[in-house]
Amino acid sequence: MFDREAAVDPSIREALFAQVRLHTGIVMAERKWTMLHGRLRRRLQELQLSGYEAYLALLGRSKHEVGCFIDLVTTNETSFFRTPRIWQYLEEHFFPRWHAAHSGATMQIWSAAASTGEEGYSLAMLANEFRQKHPDFSYRILATDISRAVLDVAAAGSYAGRNAKGLQASRPEMVERYFVPEGDGYTARPALKAHLTFRPHNLYQDLTEPTRFDLVLLRNVLIYFDEPGQEAVVERVRRAMAPESTLIIGESESLHRIRSGFTYEQPLIYRNTKTA
Ligand SMILES: C[S@@+](CC[C@H](N)C(=O)[O-])C[C@H]1O[C@@H](n2cnc3c(N)ncnc32)[C@H](O)[C@@H]1O
Repeated sequence: MFDREAAVDPSIREALFAQVRLHTGIVMAERKWTMLHGRLRRRLQELQLSGYEAYLALLGRSKHEVGCFIDLVTTNETSFFRTPRIWQYLEEHFFPRWHAAHSGATMQIWSAAASTGEEGYSLAMLANEFRQKHPDFSYRILATDISRAVLDVAAAGSYAGRNAKGLQASRPEMVERYFVPEGDGYTARPALKAHLTFRPHNLYQDLTEPTRFDLVLLRNVLIYFDEPGQEAVVERVRRAMAPESTLIIGESESLHRIRSGFTYEQPLIYRNTKTA
């Protein structure tokens, strides 16, 4: 059975890194090998393959395996209301300002690289809280990710374990209002889910959407790309956004080093100031 790290030739490692990059845009190098090997090893055992040469050949002929590969090589860590200052900004500044300027319109929100959905449901809860005070406010959230496995979790809306406990501890009233208990955790109520659509999407491809987004959360995914990749992705995302719309990125990310049509507003928050 395949298991020996030492047996993997550097050219095979390179070929696997190239496959990661080809299918996701994620840039991996030698220092990521132990992690990648750890993630792929079990898959090779499941498939009863003799080694990575056979696996690379399979990747070349099987779309299904490419999907499994993407699920394995992506890092899907997330949580509800991750990075508190963002949610405070949305609640206190973005929602009121947008609502005042767009009376009667539906706010279009995109959670790009949404992982298992905690970000999308956090957005929905916050928008719903705003709607309680402003009944004419409406919103729609599109949540996308390249990994179908995480999107299945997101669409089910059932959470248990660390993330569920975290939300229960920090915002018990939200769990009470927007989820129903189930097993060791809880599931999003249909009324909340109704505002969310989940769809597979690779950020290196154009998003085919008729509407332009007012708010995009593109968080904790740019760090996996190199600068040309970041520039390409950010420009694609920008083209899906309305003029003067808002982009929010992750805590360890910045747009300072790339060319983009966004103007810095405050840490992690940018405005789409390019007109075309
Ligand atoms: C660390 S998670 C971030 C989740 C969430 N945005 C957050 O900040 O908590 C990164 C996500 O990016 C997704 N991803 C990686 N490459 C992608 C690509 N090329 N297109 C779309 N999603 C991608 C991964 O599948 C993963 O779920």
